[in-house]
Amino acid sequence: MMTEKNHKGEMLISQQEILERAKEIGKQITEDFAGEEVLLVGILKGAILWLSDIVKEIDLDARLDFMAVSSYGASTKTTGVVKILKDLDVPIEDKNVIIVEDIADTGVTLAYLTKYLMGRGPKCLKTCALLDKPARRQVDIDIDYVGFEVEDKFIIGYGLDYNQQYRNLPYISCLD
Ligand code: IMP
Ligand code: MG
Repeated sequence: MMTEKNHKGEMLISQQEILERAKEIGKQITEDFAGEEVLLVGILKGAILWLSDIVKEIDLDARLDFMAVSSYGASTKTTGVVKILKDLDVPIEDKNVIIVEDIADTGVTLAYLTKYLMGRGPKCLKTCALLDKPARRQVDIDIDYVGFEVEDKFIIGYGLDYNQQYRNLPYISCLD
C-alpha cells in the first residue's frame, strides 16, 4: 500500500534531476555518434521510463528495440547467466547499439547482455544505466553512460520495482 497517492519512501533523486541528466547524456550520445544511426535496446521493464527520457534528447536517427531478461535467482551470481525472456526484433550486425538498463547492481545482467549481443557483430556496443550501485558489484563491467551513482540501498521508483510495485513513482526513492 502506498502511504499517500503515488508516494513511497525517501526521495533520493527528483524527476527534475533525472530529466536534466537525461538531457546531458542525450547530448553526449548525439556527439559520440554524430551523423550515425543508433539503436537503443531497452531492458524491460525497469528501463522504460529512463529510456523515454533519453531518446527524446538524442538528435540522431535513433531507433528502439527491447529485451526482457530474468535472473536465475541465487545461481545467477555463480553462473553469471541470465535468462532471455524476449529477444531483439531486429538484427544488430554493423549497428551502433546502446543497451539501456535501470540499474547496474551486481553487474551480472549487463555483463551477460554485453557478451550476448557482442556475439552478433554490432559495429559498436555501449551501455547506459539510470543508476549505478557500485558497492554491490560482483563482475567487472564498463558503463558508458551513467545517470547517477547510488548507495547500497534498495531502490524503487522511476521504473524500478519492489515485487512489481512502485515503478510509477515519478522520482527515485528507497525502501525504508
Ligand atoms: P544486476 O545484479 O546488476 O544483474 O541487476 C539486475 C537487475 O536487478 C536490475 O536490472 C534490476 O531490475 C534489479 N535490481 C538491482 N538492484 C535493484 C534495486 O535496488 N531496486 C530494484 N531493482 C533492483
Ligand atoms: Mg531490471
